[in-house]
Amino acid sequence: MSVNNSTRMKISTKMKKALNDQVGLEADASNSYLAMASWCEVTGYEGAASYFYAQSDEERTHMLKIIHYLNDMGAISVIPAIKSPAVTYKSLENLIKTALKNEQAVTAAIHKMVEIAQKEKDHSTYVFLEWFVNEQVQEETKFETLLQKFDLIGRDKLAINEIDKLLASQATAESEPTA
Ligand code: FEO
Repeated sequence: MSVNNSTRMKISTKMKKALNDQVGLEADASNSYLAMASWCEVTGYEGAASYFYAQSDEERTHMLKIIHYLNDMGAISVIPAIKSPAVTYKSLENLIKTALKNEQAVTAAIHKMVEIAQKEKDHSTYVFLEWFVNEQVQEETKFETLLQKFDLIGRDKLAINEIDKLLASQATAESEPTA
């Protein structure tokens, strides 16, 4: 929808700010996964690299969803600056732990927005956010399951190679369009 002077903003200023902040969080996530993918690529974890390149793309689609929603609601999104992500990681396991922490922070931010929507009886945003609530359950489970693999398979070179292969197989699913 094009935004002009006759377009009334259909969400509160508070909700607009929260959604714009979320645009920033999704952009940070996309950038952070891009840096993780690059580190995996140069470290020799080809499967993990494909997986995180795809994950980076997926976060960009999340960001775009919110930008389009803000614009559709006459709230005009403001594209924020992106934080510099970490460049190196101690291990693949450490990298995945960082990814899980990122997702937990994103989940908390989304839940806060749901609470704002409930308080303000903003039904449109409430319904819009439902997709993100479900997505976060999947995202956290995905990384938790991957972390379990280190306990199950091990942390020696052969085990890490198995986990890298597993990530390669999951990367294909990851790169399927979500929106
Ligand atoms: Fe879009 Fe993984 O949070």
